[in-house]
Amino acid sequence: MTLWGGRFEEAPADVLWRFTVSHADRRLLEFDVEGSLAHAGMLADVGLISRDDHDAIRDGLLRILADARDGTFEWLDADEDVHSAVERRLVELVGEPGKRLHTGRSRNDQVALDIRLYLRAACDAQADRLTRFGAVLVDQAAAHATTLIPSYTHMQQAQAVPLGHHLLAYAWMAVRSRQRFGQLRERLSVSPLGAGASGGSSLPLDPIDSARRLGFDVVFANSMDAVGSRDLVAEFAWCCAQTMVDLSRLSEELILWATSEFGWVSFSDAFTTGSSALPQKKNPDIAELARGKSAAAIADLMGLLTLQKGLPLTYNRDLQEDKEHVFRADDTLAGTLEALTGMVADARFDPPAPSSWVTALDLAEALVTRGVPFREAHHAVGRLVAALSSTGRVLSEATSDDLAVADERFVAADLALTEPSTSVDNRRTMGGGSVESVHQQIEALRYALTQ
Ligand code: ARG
Repeated sequence: MTLWGGRFEEAPADVLWRFTVSHADRRLLEFDVEGSLAHAGMLADVGLISRDDHDAIRDGLLRILADARDGTFEWLDADEDVHSAVERRLVELVGEPGKRLHTGRSRNDQVALDIRLYLRAACDAQADRLTRFGAVLVDQAAAHATTLIPSYTHMQQAQAVPLGHHLLAYAWMAVRSRQRFGQLRERLSVSPLGAGASGGSSLPLDPIDSARRLGFDVVFANSMDAVGSRDLVAEFAWCCAQTMVDLSRLSEELILWATSEFGWVSFSDAFTTGSSALPQKKNPDIAELARGKSAAAIADLMGLLTLQKGLPLTYNRDLQEDKEHVFRADDTLAGTLEALTGMVADARFDPPAPSSWVTALDLAEALVTRGVPFREAHHAVGRLVAALSSTGRVLSEATSDDLAVADERFVAADLALTEPSTSVDNRRTMGGGSVESVHQQIEALRYALTQ
């Protein structure tokens, strides 16, 4: 039975039912009941339903909630959506009082509420996953505060840095993602209940009462915005998509580093898969799928943005389509974070020492400390690099003669600067790639990941 049969003489066509009914919103069941409990409480507070009716409704809803939690709630083909199913079951359970629950409410403010409740919980769960993910990055960084690698720009070796510094770049991204979910949670904490179908109600509702019961800080200021907007749903999907993109970049690096050509990292059997054809292989499938699944998260964000484009206010049935996108974005990020957390914890990093080319900037900076303009110093080291390359040598193989030919202001002691560990030891910039900076970041991150 639909909630809207009054003016209809014909039953819905099968094709209409098949096309318009979506089961995706069944995932909102517990939140729908939670919202209904608050709504019923408010209706009783303002005297729109009697205490007896309220108690009957509450008992029925609590029974539905228990069934929802243990997975025994029974859905019928005739339930148009989660809201219809709850009301249908409530009337089955408690009879006439159940028919009073929808007083002063529309499915439009109801679904706007349900999705906020869902997303509020989802933000908390994603933040917790990001805390765990950030923590394994921090642990690996602590273990590799003095393991040196080249940093890259343009995929060309740039400067020596601790591997821990590289890993912590991803931990900071995780912190920002976590903050975004936390900030979104605040924006979500506005109750749309009371907005009704689009313009509110003639009944003496008390939206502040129901909002408080749900732990919301604020009540909608505009009923049309409350029922017609899905920007926060898209914002959640953006938080998921951006996080997935960050994870995809890390995954790409893990895949690259695990190649025989790089040989920087290996994983245990438990975190790799084999090849059906090539017996020697251990594939980093978790990272590959994390990279692959970021496509779905981006697609879901695009879906939610496109869904809103061109929609007149307020509620339109198009908005039912938001569920599949936002649930999938949530699941994609949840699964990826859990798998990558395991994979990063499992990683055994053992990169080869960087070549001395990554110290070229240190030589130029040595000249700068003697008053040489940086542009001249850069050219001098460039000449040295060209001379060494043309004789098949690397920077650490330079002699004091090579230095003198490149620029007379070099001194023999500068040869020591061509050691990558010296380069890292001499790094002074706050937040730069020094061992001290890695330790400072670890301390700051351990705090930031709990805030
Ligand atoms: N199933 C709908 C959705 O998910 C609920 C709101 C339906 N409202 C309506 N007037 N048909 O968006």
